Parts: sequence; structure tokens; C-alpha cells
Amino acid sequence: MRISTLTLFKALYEPFIKTSLPARAVDAGIVSLDVEDLFSLVGPKKRIDSPSFGPGAGMLLKPEVIQMGIEKSELQHGPAYKIFFSPKGQKLDQCLLKKLAQILQEKKHIMLIPARYEGMDARVEEVYADCMVSIGDYVLMGGDLPAMVLMEGLLRLIPGVVGKEESVLEESFSGPFVDYPEYTAPVLWKGLEVPEIIRSGNHGAIESWRRTKAAHDSVIHHFGWVRSHTYAQEDKKLVAQQIPPHYVILMHSQVLLGDDTEGTSSVTSLDIHDIARSACTYGITKYFLVTPLLDQQKIVKKLLHFWHTDIGIDYNPQRHEALKAVCLVESFDEALAQIKHQEGKQPLCIATSARQVTGIKGLTYYDQERVWSQERPVVLVLGTARGLAPSLLERCDYVLGPIEGFSEFNHLSVRSAAAVIFDRWLGTNPVAQ
Ligand SMILES: C[S@@+](CC[C@H](N)C(=O)[O-])C[C@H]1O[C@@H](n2cnc3c(N)ncnc32)[C@H](O)[C@@H]1O
Repeated sequence: MRISTLTLFKALYEPFIKTSLPARAVDAGIVSLDVEDLFSLVGPKKRIDSPSFGPGAGMLLKPEVIQMGIEKSELQHGPAYKIFFSPKGQKLDQCLLKKLAQILQEKKHIMLIPARYEGMDARVEEVYADCMVSIGDYVLMGGDLPAMVLMEGLLRLIPGVVGKEESVLEESFSGPFVDYPEYTAPVLWKGLEVPEIIRSGNHGAIESWRRTKAAHDSVIHHFGWVRSHTYAQEDKKLVAQQIPPHYVILMHSQVLLGDDTEGTSSVTSLDIHDIARSACTYGITKYFLVTPLLDQQKIVKKLLHFWHTDIGIDYNPQRHEALKAVCLVESFDEALAQIKHQEGKQPLCIATSARQVTGIKGLTYYDQERVWSQERPVVLVLGTARGLAPSLLERCDYVLGPIEGFSEFNHLSVRSAAAVIFDRWLGTNPVAQ
């Protein structure tokens, strides 16, 4: 197997290749690492770069120099799978590294082609790039550090390079979770003790502790990864156990009416059914329906009675299952009191709104960590009519930004908004396996 690199800065690679893991891989005869100096391909006093066409011009590597480098390497070592580097490329992660490690083992030759200056002539990438890699959403001076990052990540996955293969298979991002915490001697350091279970010698208990800890840390700190990479049913169950309990409250009081005064709204049977079904789908513990109006309560009670008793259960058991979680209350405070009673902790309230709200801490749909790390139950508060009134908003800890598409129309029904909100906040979002 061979990894060839075409670069303007060969000297950068020398200490890297002669140290630690790359050196061991070469010494063990597993892989050859060669680095071609692109300057050696241009004649004396000839330029390796030329200005990019158009205004605001920077310098680009000349296409014929890259061509020469590729042709020379392939003539010597056979056809290569060619990887270019650009902030525009596919984001490098453990899944991509695994794919590339597979390709290296099959094709035996990977070529890394890092650019400098403003990058490559677009035609060079069009003609040669089998893959374009970015190591993150930031811009470096050149692709040499990205090439070395990729090389190190790749070499670790080649059998025989890392001593203990199972340590590579079980580490962060090799599945849905990051690694569990590890400890060494001394047992007590700076007043912190190594958890007793780790020292217990009970392998089953240690295994289970590690798995739960890994899942917990992943859910809190890397939910974006977890939601995209959890496929197995048992892993999904473990993830669900790490997410703090969630509740939803649908307000028919303390809402804004057409004239922007505060008032009450009527219940809608569709909202009861559909939000209950969505809540159930996303693992929400309970759905509180708030209305202080007696005639409205009567309607809700009748509907719930049907679905909470024998006829409803027999008629449609799934619907019964969803509507079991619906609880009619008179006020926001009554709902909060029930949640506190159930969970033993005051919940964090997250308001939702179709408009930008100021004066409360805002949240985005990437902010689960900010909320979940507080280890308190979470309530998503939905409004009806023209949305939650200021008297209710000021009771909330946070407000989520409005759900918007790339159009100017902004009139989602609360049941549609609820489904989108639950999905963005709690849903899975798998990438291809
Ligand atoms: C100064 S950068 C060019 C940036 C380019 N004008 C842009 O805005 O996307 C020069 C070269 O460094 C490498 N590079 C810079 N940042 C990178 C990143 N985040 N990931 C991968 N390669 C990067 C690429 O090879 C790139 O062509």
C-alpha cells in the first residue's frame, strides 16, 4: 500500500513521517509514504503558480504542474485514488476515514494533493479529484496540515498499524457514541476519586457503566452526531434514556388575540390528536392541554374519555396509546406543578414562537447541550391564536427561534409547528450507513 503526496512544502512532512505512527507503519512494511516536491517539477526561474482570471485575483497552482506530478507518480507506482483538499470539500470524519481506509486496502495507492495560495484551477479538480476533503469550516494557508491529519487518521485504521486493533474499533465516533472516561493511578488526585465501579473488578458492571457513560456524554455533548449515527434499536433505547424527560404544554390561555390583547382561544380536536401522536413519536412524557374555560374543558374531557376508555382502546389502540399522554389542566402553573411533582425538579421552560422574541435567552436547534447539561426536565411551550402572550413568555427560561422556510409565508398551524419543533429538537437524522 502506498500514500503519495504532492506538495510545495516537502520539509513539513519529513518529521511527521519519521515519527511515531507513520514511521512504525513504514518500518513494519505495511505502507510506503512518499512525498513529491512540486517545485522539483518546474524548471529554474519558472513559476509554479499564476494569477486567477477575473477581478480580486489571487494565485493558483498551474494545472500542468499538478498534471506532471500526478502522471509521474502514477507511472512509477500505478493508478491512484486522488484526494484533493478544500474548505468546500466533504467534511472529514471517522466514517469518511473508514471508507478511505477501505479504498487504500483495495486500490493500494492513494494520492494526496494539497493546494496552497487560492487553491487549484477548478478544471484540475474536475479532471482528477476522486474525493475532495475539508477538515472543518475554516480556512488554512494550505492543504498540507489537512493532508497530514487525513494520513494519520487513515493509517490508524490499517490493520497492523496500531498495536491493539480493538482500541481502534471501539473508540469515539466509530459508532454512535464518543469514548467513555478513563482513569489511571493514583486513585485520589486533587480531591477527585476514580469511580469505585471501575476498580471493582466486576467486568460486567464496568462494561455497563462505560456504555451508559459513553451514551450520556455523547447525547449531551454530541447530539448532532448521535442523532445521525444511531441505527441499532438497543442504542436508540440507550439514547432515549440519556435525554432528560420532556413535556409539552399547549396554551389556550395567556395567548395573544387578533387585536394583540391577551386572552383565551378555543381547543381544536385536530391539535389534541396530532400533537399527542407527535409527542408520543418523539418520546415526550406528557402533553398538557391548558384551558381555564369550562365549556372547552367539557369538550376535551368528552374526547379524552372516549380514547382513555374501552371503546377507544378497542377502536384504535395506537391512538389510545398517544392520547393516554394528554392531560387537561386549567393553567400553566398547574401543569408545572404536576411536572415538578412527577420529576422532583422544577422544569426548564422553552417557549416557542412564530416571531423573533427579545428579552428571553434565545435557543437554536443546535443548543440541546445548553439545556440538557442542566439535568432538569424540559417543557416545550406552544401557543395558539397569535402566539404566547408576554405574561407567559416572561415565565419561560428560553425561547426557540421561529420555524421558517426560505419563503415569506409564515402561517404554520400549531400542530405542524409542534411536529417540526419536536423533530428538530429531539429527532433522529440518519446519514447513509
Ligand atoms: C487559502 S486556502 C484557499 C481557500 C479558498 N479560497 C476558499 O475560500 O475556499 C488554500 C488551500 O488550503 C487548503 N485548505 C485550507 N483550509 C482547508 C480546510 N479547512 N480543509 C481542507 N483544506 C483546506 C486547500 O487545499 C486550499 O485550496
